[in-house]
Amino acid sequence: PETPRPRTPIMGWSSWNNYHVNISEEIIQSQADAMAASGMKEAGYSYINIDDGFFGGRNENGGLLAHKKRFPSGMKALADYIHKKGLKAGIYSDAGINTCASYWDQDTIGSGMGLYGHEWSDLNLMLKEWGYDFIKIDWCGGQWLDLDEETRYTLLGKMIRSIRPDVVYNICRWEFPGKWALTTADSWRISGDITNTFESVMHIVDRNADLWKYSGPGHVNDMDMLQVGRGMGYEEDKTHFSMWCMLNSPLLAGNDLTKMSDETLEILTNKELISINQDPLVYQARKLEDHGDLELWTRPLGSTMSGRVAVALLNRSDKNQTMTLELEKVAIIPGEGYVVKDCWEHTTSSGMTKPTLSYEIPPHGVVVLKIDGTNPPFNVFQFENGKK
Ligand code: GLA
Repeated sequence: PETPRPRTPIMGWSSWNNYHVNISEEIIQSQADAMAASGMKEAGYSYINIDDGFFGGRNENGGLLAHKKRFPSGMKALADYIHKKGLKAGIYSDAGINTCASYWDQDTIGSGMGLYGHEWSDLNLMLKEWGYDFIKIDWCGGQWLDLDEETRYTLLGKMIRSIRPDVVYNICRWEFPGKWALTTADSWRISGDITNTFESVMHIVDRNADLWKYSGPGHVNDMDMLQVGRGMGYEEDKTHFSMWCMLNSPLLAGNDLTKMSDETLEILTNKELISINQDPLVYQARKLEDHGDLELWTRPLGSTMSGRVAVALLNRSDKNQTMTLELEKVAIIPGEGYVVKDCWEHTTSSGMTKPTLSYEIPPHGVVVLKIDGTNPPFNVFQFENGKK
C-alpha cells in the first residue's frame, strides 16, 4: 500500500558529525536558516535532524525533558521554527535504556534517556506534541539490556506508524539489521560511524556493495551522514557524494551549513547527482567490475528497460589512472547511438556511437556519467555476479 512517506532517500542535514552532543537551539536554528537561504532547500534538502545531545533528564512522572541551558525554548518551539522555514524536523532516541552518548556526556544526564520503559509516552511527545517528522533510533542502550532487536524495532515501528504514519523511521545499528528491516523502517544503518577520511568512505561503500537487493522504493541502506566539506579533499568529497547518490543512501549533510565553501555547496547541490539519488526506480548501484583500485558501478534509471543508466568509474588509488568503459558492459548498444552526460563536468555529447569511452581519473576521484541509449537495451538485471 502507498505510504505518505517519501519513496526516495531523504535529503537534509544532521547535527552529529559537526557538533556531536554540543548542540543548542541557536545552532539548530542557524542551520535551518542556512538550509533555506543557501540553495540547499531548492536542491531538494528538507530535513533538519537533531541527533544526540538535546536530552535534559526526566521529570518526576518520567516525562522526557530537553536540556534546559541548550534548549531553553523547548523542542516544540524548535520544531515549529524549522517548519516555518518550510523544512521538516528530525529527532533522535534509543531503543534501550540510554542513548549512545549518555555514557560519557555527564552534562546531559547519565542514562535513562532511551525509550525503554517510556516507549509510548516518549514517542507521542516527540512525534505528536513536539511535531518531529523523522526519528532515528539507536541501539547503544539495547545491547546492554539483551533486547532482541527485531522484536524491539518492530514494536517501536508499529507505535510510530500508529502515532503518525508520515514519520520517517531510521534504524541505527552498526551493521545491516536483517531482512525484517525492509518492512519495518524507511532506512537503516549498515556500518559504524563515518569519519572524515577517504578510508572510512570506501569502507562503507564496500559494506554496502552486496546489500543492493535490500534497497528499493521506501526502504534504503543508510551509509551514514555526509562528511562533505569536513576536511577531505575536493576529489574525495566528490567521490563520497557520488557513491552516496549511486547507492541510494539518505543524503544528510553533516557540515556547518552557515560556513560552506563554494566547492562544498557545489558538491552538495549537484543536480545531476541528486537526480540519480532521487531516481524513482530506487535501484542501488551494483559493482560490475573490480580491478583492484579501479571499479565500475552502474544502475538503471527510471526502469530496468529504459535504456538509461548511471555509471560511476571509481579510482581508489593515489595516482592518476585511465579507465575505459565498454558501453556494452552497461547495457548500451553503442552502434545504435547514445547520449552521454558527464555529471561533474556538466558536458553532454550526443550522437555517440563509439564502443568505448576513456577517462583520466585523479587519485581518489570518480567520473559519473548518465548514458541514454536508443532502442531497447539489454536488461540491466542481466548483471548477475558482475557478469552480463
Ligand atoms: C551512535 C550513532 C551516531 C550518533 C551517536 C550519538 O554512535 O551511530 O550516528 O547518533 O550514536 O550518540
